Amino acid sequence: MTPEPQPTSQPQRIDRYVGQYAERAVGMVASEIRALFAVAARPEIVSLAGGSPYVAALPLEVVGDMVGQLIAGQGATALQYCTAQGDAGLRERICDVMALEQIRAHPDEVVVTVGSQQALDLMARIFVDPGDVVLVEAPSYVGALGAFASYQADVVHVAMDDDGLIPEALEEAIRRTAATGRRAKFLYTVPNFHNPAGVTLAAGRRHRILDICHRAGLLVVEDNPYGLLGFDGEPMRALRADDTDGVVYLGTFSKTFAAGVRVGWAVAPTAIREKLILAAESAVLCHSSFSQLTVREYLNTQPWHEQIKDFRELYRERRDATLSGLAGMMPSGCHWTRPAGGFYVWLRLPDGINAKAMLPRAISSRVAYVPGTGFYADGSGGQYARLCYSLPDPDRIGEGIRRLAAVIETEMQLRDDFGPMSAS
Ligand SMILES: Cc1ncc(COP(=O)(O)O)c(C=O)c1O
Repeated sequence: MTPEPQPTSQPQRIDRYVGQYAERAVGMVASEIRALFAVAARPEIVSLAGGSPYVAALPLEVVGDMVGQLIAGQGATALQYCTAQGDAGLRERICDVMALEQIRAHPDEVVVTVGSQQALDLMARIFVDPGDVVLVEAPSYVGALGAFASYQADVVHVAMDDDGLIPEALEEAIRRTAATGRRAKFLYTVPNFHNPAGVTLAAGRRHRILDICHRAGLLVVEDNPYGLLGFDGEPMRALRADDTDGVVYLGTFSKTFAAGVRVGWAVAPTAIREKLILAAESAVLCHSSFSQLTVREYLNTQPWHEQIKDFRELYRERRDATLSGLAGMMPSGCHWTRPAGGFYVWLRLPDGINAKAMLPRAISSRVAYVPGTGFYADGSGGQYARLCYSLPDPDRIGEGIRRLAAVIETEMQLRDDFGPMSAS
């Protein structure tokens, strides 16, 4: 009998450092959205998945000229290091932007960050020890969940309805946390045109939420990338406008100018701000001067209010196409939110249909969305899908929804024939 051939060396493990990572790195996994990006970018697929802004609507040549002049005139500053708190001129302009939501802030109170995503990371870095509770909406922004998970937070979801975070559910979450002998480190909320739920915290609930948090000594992190992209009336009054001690406000130019410049900011009570600056310094020394000065020049020299109006009109048209497509084509048993701004509709599928299990079939039918499971720390939310209408034009949106409706109908038929499906 011939002996089995022996391997000449140890079989190669996929990752030879697998046993050596810090505990916090073990839970770092690619988000549902990241995994989808590559396939959803194929031109034959109508992507209602990634939440990218439609930057092609910017006057790109004008922005290009502005950047050229910036380097020609101020290149020695734009290409140099700056302070970790960020460019003073930009921080002044940021205060003008926040004034649109009734926030009165001094430039000294502002910390510039690499998008608001970095502010989320820095907040978790300075507040969260492993096992600390962070309260977030149900569902919640996937990037925030990722940031909190990387500091091993114990994420507790708080229910929302069509008017945003439910005050009674927040009180209950605070009570339940206290019953375990703990106090949540902060409440993370996206009050306007929520990602992914598409809902907005009702004006009548805002004081109530602040009051509950104030009484519980609970810091609020107000993340507001979409506040200026409302389709009706004036921007809502920010939570921070009514509570400067209890609210850390996060803003970004990603959706109102350009996501690629990666400029966001945080406004925080003094002591927190100092920690944020120190944490930012150790993370990146300072942020890109070039990006910051690009945004500063843009705000100083371009009609940015008009550009935001243009974005609003563009996204309103896409929202309308989405809602009329859903109303006209979705099978019964589907329910969805009706956003008054921002990029997202939150679609609930008929009972027994799982958005994650259905995704490969949707991709084969050339339409992509993000399954709801990405927006819950515990992986629930399988009955939901996030539809993002910011990138495709209205005709493509209509076509995407037609394809999606057909996929759901087929799934319903399978469910009726073989019973409900699970995600795995
Ligand atoms: C709710 C929310 N917060 C934060 C971000 C991060 O934005 P950025 O880092 O581009 O400022 C996003 C991006 O989609 C978002 O939707």
